[in-house]
Amino acid sequence: MIDYLATPIDPTSTEALSMKGLHLALVDTSHHAEFETWLRADIRGFHGAEPTSENIAANIAGVADRRTTGVWDASALDAGVPVATVSSWPLELTVPGHRHVKAWAISSVTVAPTHRRRGIARALLEAELRTARSLGIPLATLTVSESTIYGRFGFAPAAFANNLTIDTRRAHWVGPEASGRLNFITPAQFRTEIAQMHDRVRLTSAGQIPVWGKRWDEISGLTGDDKEHSTRLRAVRYDDLSGALTGLALYRVTEAQGESAGDFSQHVLTIEYLCHETDEAYAGLWRYLLEVDLVSRVRAPHRSVDEPVQWQLSDSRAIAQSPWDHLWLRILDVTATLESRTYSAPGRCILRVQDDLGYATGDYLLEVDAAGSGQVRAMDGSRDATASVSLDVNALSALFLGGTSAAMLAAAGLIAEDESGSAAVLESMFHSPRAPWLSVWF
Ligand SMILES: CC(C)(COP(=O)(O)OP(=O)(O)OC[C@H]1O[C@@H](n2cnc3c(N)ncnc32)[C@H](O)[C@@H]1OP(=O)(O)O)[C@@H](O)C(=O)NCCC(=O)NCCS
Repeated sequence: MIDYLATPIDPTSTEALSMKGLHLALVDTSHHAEFETWLRADIRGFHGAEPTSENIAANIAGVADRRTTGVWDASALDAGVPVATVSSWPLELTVPGHRHVKAWAISSVTVAPTHRRRGIARALLEAELRTARSLGIPLATLTVSESTIYGRFGFAPAAFANNLTIDTRRAHWVGPEASGRLNFITPAQFRTEIAQMHDRVRLTSAGQIPVWGKRWDEISGLTGDDKEHSTRLRAVRYDDLSGALTGLALYRVTEAQGESAGDFSQHVLTIEYLCHETDEAYAGLWRYLLEVDLVSRVRAPHRSVDEPVQWQLSDSRAIAQSPWDHLWLRILDVTATLESRTYSAPGRCILRVQDDLGYATGDYLLEVDAAGSGQVRAMDGSRDATASVSLDVNALSALFLGGTSAAMLAAAGLIAEDESGSAAVLESMFHSPRAPWLSVWF
């Protein structure tokens, strides 16, 4: 059990910020007024609408178990409101092989526009990495508002997501017939079932994490201030022939905008969440969603980059795809991280890792046996051995879940082959048959 709430605030960043007249401290989330002030600063930092008291209460109940940090400026007009926020907690990140590794999730990184570009975010991020390391957590993870911020701290995208838009007039279902049944359920019933189903399936997809209750409440429209959004949500369950629940979908249908506004046959269906335990349920749910009457376009934001549905339609050009980086990782402990997953092929590789912040720097011998288990030996910086490849910690973090090809990183100049052919060896070892995917934001 990691006592991440009791760990004292990082002294190095405390000192660095105090030199700038700023105070770094943990928030006592059991003190509701103090926590509410922090939550409002966090929401303002992301340009969110002023939250209702109902929304604040849901946050207080839902995320109080996170390590909650703020920065205060005693000279500000409202000195009680933090000028920067961050929260963090340990979670189980799924890695290839139906396994998981402990990861330090970092969220709510905001700096007030009045205090931007003074090094506050840097102090917060560096403190989070030191805290994670002191707790023995081998890697840090986050999802990002912009892809330009976190590379400098050693993070890299390790799982991508894909926004799909499907022209349903053009694409007809040619996938397998699903023999089960579909039934409407309420968003509240969806909320109950999805939490359990996600827990059953999350180890099947590298990149997934345990989803906390408040996030399911938000996805299901049971909390949050966007009532227009939540009243439009519809949920269906898929039961197989034996009556077992094996799939769930949540969606909403809205009238077309723009040129098609007013045309009642051109509604847009947006898939808010779809989860399946069997291929049959996947096919049954997708077919249902693609064949709803009065809908001409299905939007499926935040799906995996290798959705089978693209092979289940008569016209693959009816799908517009827009992939984006979603899950970012930062390896802190190379040995523990690389040993946590299984590999696709046996092999042997000496990785020479460079890390500007020092955590991962060193030579590591990775040996994968015929069963796919990896053993890592840190070579104590002896530099006697010839490295197979040289790469920085960002490239290693991008490679880790198997969603990014080593051959491609080598072609991009991010992996240098010290021994010819090593990138191909690395590629065959790290490759993951299904692309890693994280289905939520955190
Ligand atoms: C992004 C944000 C947290 C940066 O805070 P900040 O205190 O201004 O950042 P810092 O002054 O510590 O900058 C640290 C480094 O990041 C760079 N940086 C900061 N924000 C950046 C951005 N949006 N894009 C690219 N680089 C950025 C700085 O140039 C600096 O680089 P350097 O140290 O290598 O020279 C802040 O602008 C913010 O709150 N934005 C809105 C909310 C948000 O997007 N949060 C991120 C959530 S994932």
